[in-house]
Order: sequence, then structure tokens, then C-alpha cells
Amino acid sequence: MNKIPFVDLKAQYREIKEEIDDAVKDVLDNTAFIMGERVSNFEDRFAEYCNAKSCIGVSSGTSALLVALKAAGIKQGDEVITTPNTFIATTEAISELNAKVVFADIDRETYTIDPEKIKEKVTEKTKAIIPVHLYGQPADMDPIKEIAQENDLAIVEDCAQSHGAEYKGRKVPVSQIGCFSFYPGKNLGAYGDAGAIVTNDSEFAERAAMIRDHGRKKGEKYTHTIIGSNYRIDALQAAILNVKLKHLDEWIAKRRKNAQLYNDLLKDEVATPKEPEYSKHVYHLYVIRTKNRDNLQSQLKENQISTGIHYPIPLHLQPAYQDLHYKEGDFRDTEESTKEILSLPMYPELTEEQIKFIAEKIKEAAS
Ligand SMILES: Cc1ncc(COP(=O)(O)O)c(C=O)c1O
Repeated sequence: MNKIPFVDLKAQYREIKEEIDDAVKDVLDNTAFIMGERVSNFEDRFAEYCNAKSCIGVSSGTSALLVALKAAGIKQGDEVITTPNTFIATTEAISELNAKVVFADIDRETYTIDPEKIKEKVTEKTKAIIPVHLYGQPADMDPIKEIAQENDLAIVEDCAQSHGAEYKGRKVPVSQIGCFSFYPGKNLGAYGDAGAIVTNDSEFAERAAMIRDHGRKKGEKYTHTIIGSNYRIDALQAAILNVKLKHLDEWIAKRRKNAQLYNDLLKDEVATPKEPEYSKHVYHLYVIRTKNRDNLQSQLKENQISTGIHYPIPLHLQPAYQDLHYKEGDFRDTEESTKEILSLPMYPELTEEQIKFIAEKIKEAAS
């Protein structure tokens, strides 16, 4: 068996090369690099895909979060509750606005933020919650929405890993605001950095669109209504995403099929991902759990199978967040999972033969 990479972007490009090359050529032929119809086409189609009113294309998932929090009015001194089990971009947006990051622990089974733990963290200063639909698994949103409603809090869903994931039959985001990343390895990935904000709130959408483009309204070149910046999505990336969006549901179906095969083969060896009845998981990452993680990871490496850990250091223990004075033991479910989780290769083009080989090597490592 040849080396099995963690993701295989080349395999995907080979499948859609002609369509992509045509879309890129169209942008180059028209020198249509900034905003314009390719961007608005993608925004319209992605909003439609999410069953939302508006989509605002931005330069990355990180800027989607920053622009969304800004447009939601988060400012210095506000508190924003989120999970310590996520990529740091989730909290960087909070910190950049000089608001305070407040962590709440995860649910052991789904690795997403535990609504009961959120309740304990709400104070007078709390202004927003950022649930992260981690690995492609939606957080349990109904109780989160209830907490937000009771306390008058904004919800900004971090959907960076969960394009097309569903909560109770609805695609995320299921509240007013969702932030997506189109980083190349994501389920819907650009060929560079890109991101988007999706929303049903037209006033918020207008503010977010202005913040991403120097504070001006659409069509106004030198009137700057508010202070914004440049967080625009690149038109080349929008054109590429327009092509790839057509394939997203088919790719999700393949990821889910691959996950099912992994589940069947691995259920007696390790803890496989749980999919609560409220969710449709889109398996951006396929994460197993075992006490024997480090040994397993090195044995898989010896067999040329690449794996990952998402994430090896929880955010409350990151050097960058020392000033928040969290310590080991503060978020036990996150800390324990950090030591036991392992992400296996997962992409639509992964073959049955490759999955069987990986499962066989996992069984060998366990025996
Ligand atoms: C959960 C989460 N949030 C935010 C981001 C940031 O997205 P980007 O890399 O497009 O800035 C990522 C990307 O890795 C992510 O996984």
C-alpha cells in the first residue's frame, strides 16, 4: 500500500480540473480580480445552499469571525463564551476586539461546547456565545439558543469545519449568524484563503458587508459610512468556490460513507465518533479516541499512514492565553480528550481499500 496522506487535494483537483481551469481562465481573461459578479454569484449561491438570506464573502474564516463579532457590536470589556477545544482563530477574533475570552468545557461524546457549562459562565458582561461545530459535528444548538434568548446574547456559530452539516434537519448556521472558512483542506475549500459570513439578519448583513470593504456601501466608492477595513474575498477564490460548491453534497455523501465504513471496522477497537440523533455530521475530520493514542499514532506513521491531533493543546493552556490565568484541570473533558483523540485520514476520494488497510493497522496496534 502506498503512503496514505491525511488529505489529498490533488485527487480532488484531478476530478474537476477542467471546470476549475475554465473558471480561473475566465477571471484572468476578464481581469475581474476584486468583488464583482463572480463574488456576488458565489455569495448568492452559498446563501441559498445554507438556506439563508445573505452571504458576505471575506478573506478567511478568521476574518469572518472578526467581522461578524464587530458587526454584532462586540467591544472592549465584553465577555464572549466559547470552547477551549477549537482552533485559535475562534478566540483570536474575540481578543482582537479587546473583549474577554471565557471558556466553557465540552461534551465528552461530541467534543462540542456543553450548553450546561455555558450557563455557569454567563455574567452581566457576557454579550455573545460562539459555539463551534467542530469536526463537522453541530453543537447542541437548541439549549444554546435558549440561554442566548434568556440573557439577550448574540450567537455567532463557527461553521469553519461544518459546511452542509445539519442540526435537526436544518443546515448550519441555525441561529442568526454563521462563519465559514474555505481554507483549502476544508470540506468546501478554496485554492488559497477565503471565508464567508452567512446570516438572515439584513441589518447585520449590511454592517458586515461594509466592515469587510472599507466601511462603504455597495456601489459607493469614496463615501465611507463607518470605519471598516479590507477583509474582501478574492474573486479568483469565489470563482473556484462556485465550481466546487456544485460538488459539495456529493463529497459530503462520500465522507459519510467513509465514516460509516471506519465505524463498522473500528467499533470494537477504539471509540468512534458519535452522531447524536439531532445531527448530520459532515466528517471534516474523523476523530477516534483511545488511551493508547501516542503509540497508535507512531505505529500508523511507521505504516505510512498520516494522522493528526485536533487539537494537541487546548486554548486555555496556550501560552498566548496565559494572562487569562486558566490552569490544567480547569476543563477536564477537553484536557482528557486532548490526550486521547486521533484524526484519521478523511476525504471523499479515500478508497475502501485504504480504509480497510488503516483499520487493519489499528487492530494490529491494539493487539
Ligand atoms: C474551527 C475553526 N475556526 C476558524 C478557522 C479559521 O479559518 P481560516 O483558516 O480560514 O482563517 C478554522 C480554520 O482552520 C477552524 O478550524
